Amino acid sequence: MANDCLVWKRLCLLPIATVAFSLSIENHTASPACRCMPQDPAGLEIIYGGDSTKRWAGIPIASVCHIDSFTTYNESQCAQLQSNWGFPATHYESPSSVMAPIFTDLSCNPFSLKTLPCTVGNYVRYTVDAITAAHVQKTIHFAARHNIRPVIRNTGHDLLGKSTGAGGLAIWMHNMKDISIMDYSSPHYSGTAIKVGAGVQSFEGNDAAHKAGLVIVSGSCRTVGLAGGYSQGGGHGQLVSHVGLAADQVLEWEIVLANGELVTASPTDYPDLYWALAGGGGGTYGVVVSMTSKTYPELPTASGNLSFSDRGVPRDTFFSAVEMFVSILPSIGDAGGAGVWWLTNTTLATTPTTIPGGTSTLFDSLFSPLIAFLQQNDIQHTYYVDDFPTYYDAFQTMSPLDNITDQLLGGRLIPRSVVEQNLADLTTTFRKIVERNTGLVISGITVNSSRVAYPDNSVNPAWRDTLMDVVVGATFDYTDWDGNIAIQQLITDILMPPLEKLTPGSGAYLNEADPNQRDWQQAFYGDNYDDLLGIKRKYDPDSRFYASKAVGSEAWTVTENGRLCRSQSYQRG
Ligand SMILES: Cc1cc2nc3c(=O)[nH]c(=O)nc-3n(C[C@H](O)[C@H](O)[C@H](O)COP(=O)(O)OP(=O)(O)OC[C@H]3O[C@@H](n4cnc5c(N)ncnc54)[C@H](O)[C@@H]3O)c2cc1C
Ligand SMILES: *[C@@H]1O[C@H](CO)[C@@H](O)[C@H](O)[C@H]1NC(C)=O
Ligand SMILES: *[C@@H]1O[C@H](CO)[C@@H](O)[C@H](O)[C@H]1NC(C)=O
Ligand SMILES: *[C@@H]1O[C@H](CO)[C@@H](O)[C@H](O)[C@H]1NC(C)=O
Ligand SMILES: *[C@@H]1O[C@H](CO)[C@@H](O)[C@H](O)[C@H]1NC(C)=O
Ligand SMILES: *[C@@H]1O[C@H](CO)[C@@H](O)[C@H](O)[C@H]1NC(C)=O
Ligand SMILES: *[C@@H]1O[C@H](CO)[C@@H](O)[C@H](O)[C@H]1NC(C)=O
Repeated sequence: MANDCLVWKRLCLLPIATVAFSLSIENHTASPACRCMPQDPAGLEIIYGGDSTKRWAGIPIASVCHIDSFTTYNESQCAQLQSNWGFPATHYESPSSVMAPIFTDLSCNPFSLKTLPCTVGNYVRYTVDAITAAHVQKTIHFAARHNIRPVIRNTGHDLLGKSTGAGGLAIWMHNMKDISIMDYSSPHYSGTAIKVGAGVQSFEGNDAAHKAGLVIVSGSCRTVGLAGGYSQGGGHGQLVSHVGLAADQVLEWEIVLANGELVTASPTDYPDLYWALAGGGGGTYGVVVSMTSKTYPELPTASGNLSFSDRGVPRDTFFSAVEMFVSILPSIGDAGGAGVWWLTNTTLATTPTTIPGGTSTLFDSLFSPLIAFLQQNDIQHTYYVDDFPTYYDAFQTMSPLDNITDQLLGGRLIPRSVVEQNLADLTTTFRKIVERNTGLVISGITVNSSRVAYPDNSVNPAWRDTLMDVVVGATFDYTDWDGNIAIQQLITDILMPPLEKLTPGSGAYLNEADPNQRDWQQAFYGDNYDDLLGIKRKYDPDSRFYASKAVGSEAWTVTENGRLCRSQSYQRG
């Protein structure tokens, strides 16, 4: 293996628009058994040319918090970083940081003792700030020629660790920010559309659409990327019951393939690739450089929030109210609405519930049985609803700014049939989870992704029967690695199985799930898995792109120090 890795000798990363590599490197011929790591050749030398340390990916951002590190320890800079850590921008504006802390191995952690060393660990080693498709092509060729692990990175929101990796060379899509609104016409769709560069985030797409009197499907979280893992993995948000999932809106993708070719995938060109990209998960079929999606006219919208707690009432009464809340969710989907909510041991809150095209009168009528129950039983609560002239206004006013999700997770798609036929068991299962340990929270998003006609794409078929996507979260501890591993294990082995048992044949949303999900091919992709794998092998026959739990990722095994090696038992097709 060492002979495969006489690489990484000199890697020169230059700023935007002048991506170039200066090489004193051997070329690779056959398919080597393992990807190279920077420490393989003696004396790694990095030449970084460019405007500032900002684009130096080799330095984790928490380096300023450690004495034994790449940069000088700086108390005030460290304090600043600690106080901004929860904000997504702290990570998506950096070339290597990711938001889900478990995938950093705590190798360079702003909250640990300054005397502990800061190492690169599972962060990518280098980042190319791609601005054009040509930058992407060059980087793909470079990584292939030198047997380096490419990592496609957009915002770093991914909760399964797909946008980082030890020894990785990141192709950073964040600064591809072009947006255009257009009239689109094809045999499959005529109407307005939005074309977004790979780096455009939800809030940027929302703003551009709103200026044109339009709405787009985007995340409840403003900062997720539109064209990356979000739409490629399905993509839920508060317009889903109204018009479908984000993946359902896509008209075409511009994508650089593993062989470096830039193609456009649509229902007529590369239809198999088009099908796979719309729902079959990010990071594996190629590097998307733009996405063109349907837009819809703006519309008046009702949005509201509700919260209630167990304070001063019997536990059973509180959970009866929880049950009643869940019982009204089908009617919200039927009204074209969606809701984001969370449940802890003591509180349930919706943040918010939104009915695009609906009114507060309709909203009140859906919630009135629950409000009456809360009043009759002296359950402390707040309830608020308003009519907004546009969906955009409702979203801006009612959806809180999201922090990163620094939690340990499990996830499950809950079919409507379970809510309608097995409500008591479902509520009891929720109760057992939140009563198990302090700090456990269940977050749900209520949608109906099959209320309107949806195209043939690779979205996990379980989504179409789903009334709510629920995530079980536990607090991540930045100072107790073993404790985190134990809690993740608790989620996998103890907390999720009863929910799985209650929802046979369903699955989990590949973007919001347990990174250790068992039988993940079926859970995340359903019966589409084999077709997706065939498409992956067709367009990436040498398995250049790897992401954890992505289609085709079985071809690789993560070994010591995070190095990727080809799986021995796995036959390449
Ligand atoms: C706080 C928070 C809120 C969230 N809210 C929502 C929500 O409301 N709705 C929802 O559906 N999901 C939500 N998610 C989950 C979100 O969909 C995933 O985290 C998703 O992976 C984000 O995609 P990204 O491109 O922004 O992130 P990244 O982490 O940068 O990338 C995610 C994956 O996509 C791949 N990828 C990125 N760009 C490209 C590209 N151009 N071409 C090919 N592959 C690419 C990466 O390799 C990686 O595998 C949320 C997550 C967090 C942390
Ligand atoms: C490696 O391959 C590139 C492109 O195919 C070629 O230009 C270069 O000369 C090769 N280098 C070596 C050392 O063989
Ligand atoms: C620490 O960082 C601050 C802010 O960037 C800077 O003003 C200060 O000089 C630094 N201190 C040291 C000891 O380098
Ligand atoms: C969000 O993150 C910020 C910055 O780290 C932090 O100050 C704030 O308490 C967090 N908010 C919540 C609700 O967790
Ligand atoms: C509900 O929304 C209103 C209006 O945005 C806000 O003032 C209030 O704090 C929210 N209440 C809860 C419980 O989130
Ligand atoms: C849940 O809340 C109840 C009362 O509010 C409390 O007695 C119990 O200890 C809590 N359980 C957990 C796991 O936090
Ligand atoms: C979604 O809406 C359709 C049409 O109203 C309905 O037939 C279906 O049962 C709903 N599905 C879910 C999961 O709510």
